[in-house]
Amino acid sequence: MTKRACVIGHPVAHSRSPMIHGYWLREHKIGGDYVRHEVKPGDVDLFLQNLSSSPFVGCNVTLPHKEAAARNAEIVTPVVHALGVANTLWLENGKLHADNTDVAGFLAHLDDSIPGWEKKTKHAVVFGAGGAARSVVYALNERGVEKITIVNRSRERAEQLSREIKIESNIAGFDQIETLISSADLLVNTTSLGMKGQPPLNIDLKNLKKTAAVCDIVYVPLETDFLRQARARGHAAVDGLGMLLHQAAPGFERWFGVRPKVTKELRAFIVEDLAKDAAR
Ligand SMILES: NC(=O)c1ccc[n+]([C@@H]2O[C@H](COP(=O)([O-])OP(=O)(O)OC[C@H]3O[C@@H](n4cnc5c(N)ncnc54)[C@H](OP(=O)(O)O)[C@@H]3O)[C@@H](O)[C@H]2O)c1
Repeated sequence: MTKRACVIGHPVAHSRSPMIHGYWLREHKIGGDYVRHEVKPGDVDLFLQNLSSSPFVGCNVTLPHKEAAARNAEIVTPVVHALGVANTLWLENGKLHADNTDVAGFLAHLDDSIPGWEKKTKHAVVFGAGGAARSVVYALNERGVEKITIVNRSRERAEQLSREIKIESNIAGFDQIETLISSADLLVNTTSLGMKGQPPLNIDLKNLKKTAAVCDIVYVPLETDFLRQARARGHAAVDGLGMLLHQAAPGFERWFGVRPKVTKELRAFIVEDLAKDAAR
């Protein structure tokens, strides 16, 4: 029987997951299928509860269904338990399992881009306190970063994040950045600022140590103004595409039985599509 997986979301048309999984299916000559599946917010619980009788062996989950995914799973990984959000679901012995692979995806790309980064990172500053920030703060804490500062427009949301995932963090506003970043070893943008159609993330990097690294998880465009500025000042700069590619691999392995690799060729294939999107 042909195995079929999908990505659910609302909207879901923008998702690059079918391109990534389609590439791996062709590479490994697996006669499977991976499609976009639009699920409206009011329908998501029923969809997930009936997944075992659907044509799908599992799915990726994008906005706004990540909390519903965690809530409806019978067995969750420790990361999902801690974060309360899941992006990868699969069926095992008839039971719905959930993982959050954004954490591993973020770390895998940072490890590839700056090997040994955690040894040089005592203080990380994370911009944003939304869903993606949860994964990033959790990931940094997992790797033993001593001090994590969350900078967000809404202070309340940053406090809520820190409280809910039980990770001690400093909370700051954008007006404190100039002094704050002078002690930072790593900056990570997890806001939607810099994304196509959004204003740029305007941070003056003049006080940033030369040895500090800068990461932006936005990937449309691939090179945000924030990253361009960092690169121009000589900082190690890490884009958001690697996280997207690496987060996809565990799901593919669960559904299709092969652990796929994130290669230069896969990256080039998606970069080509992102460039078309950025130009549109
Ligand atoms: N590379 C990857 O694999 C990957 C994975 C997940 C997400 N992402 C990207 O990460 C970004 C955030 O995603 P998300 O799911 O975390 O979104 P989200 O939950 O909606 O959070 C959005 C964040 O951006 C901030 N923000 C939005 N507009 C702002 C503005 N005008 N000024 C200041 N702050 C603003 C919000 O601040 P408030 O709390 O104050 O509203 C919040 O912290 C998106 O660009 C997404 O594509 C990338």
